Amino acid sequence: MVGIRPLKKIWLDGRLVDWDDARIHVLTHGLHYGYAVFEGIRCHDTPKGPAIFRLPEHNDRFLNSAKIYRMKIPYNRSELDQACIDLVRANGIPETYLRPIAFSGYGEMGLDPTKSAIQVAVINWVWGAYLGDGVDQGIRATVSSWMRMDSRSLPPQAKCAANYANSALAKMQAVSSGYDEAILLNGSGMVAEGPGENIFRVMKDVVSTPPASSGILRGITRDSVIQFLKDEHLTFHRTDFTREELFTSDELFYTGSAAGVMPIREVDGRPIGTGSYPITKRLRLRYEAAIHGKAPEYESWLTYTR
Ligand SMILES: Cc1ncc(COP(=O)(O)O)c(C=O)c1O
Repeated sequence: MVGIRPLKKIWLDGRLVDWDDARIHVLTHGLHYGYAVFEGIRCHDTPKGPAIFRLPEHNDRFLNSAKIYRMKIPYNRSELDQACIDLVRANGIPETYLRPIAFSGYGEMGLDPTKSAIQVAVINWVWGAYLGDGVDQGIRATVSSWMRMDSRSLPPQAKCAANYANSALAKMQAVSSGYDEAILLNGSGMVAEGPGENIFRVMKDVVSTPPASSGILRGITRDSVIQFLKDEHLTFHRTDFTREELFTSDELFYTGSAAGVMPIREVDGRPIGTGSYPITKRLRLRYEAAIHGKAPEYESWLTYTR
């Protein structure tokens, strides 16, 4: 059942330890109560060696997630950036997914997390296309009956482990109904996002994505795609849309560090557009060029690790 191939090292609480020695106690507080914040970042091979995509932005979001939860991470942004770089170098694999995580450790039980020390780890592993190889034909999505949690209960803009229980419910429902991925609506019935992706809609050459106020994570891939849309001179709006506007879209696609830029070919049995995704393809090509160091205009988004 183990799907992850062990690499050599894991960064744990300030030092690189052997993969098998990165262990935590079963009474780790964050394991019981979901008090953990994390990031998901990709490192890709480029002509100048392995490069981490938008590393400072990811670690800024990591620190902001912690701030929302009053969690004191004992490292600053540049120390976290360096931890990621050191880990990529130590494991020597050019293309990996990086997972910084901070959590309340083994100390006290009970619902006040401030009584347990905060532990921080960065792990990387080889992780292929998260939503499978559906890039050419697109994937099949379903609107979930689970509502995206609301910022008055669990703030979606903090990438907190607890949020992913909501994501897991939606994901399991989608997969057990024969779909590849879920689309979650918010408490107002408007489209919010996928369990681990943002969503975009194309209608008559106008591209839109739900605004941050719709209860989404502000995705870094989403932000990159918004820049691509400007560079492609396409009309773009941050605006809410409904479930039925999903069905009538010319194109739909997910964005995320794990998923990349992924076309959606069907929602709940309705084919989307004509099944060719001219705008999604253009954006995807830009994204692939950017992450692989083949687009000089986006080179400032890369942190080289050599
Ligand atoms: C709920 C959710 N929405 C959107 C995204 C996409 O964010 P990003 O592009 O920064 O990976 C993610 C992934 O982190 C996510 O978990």
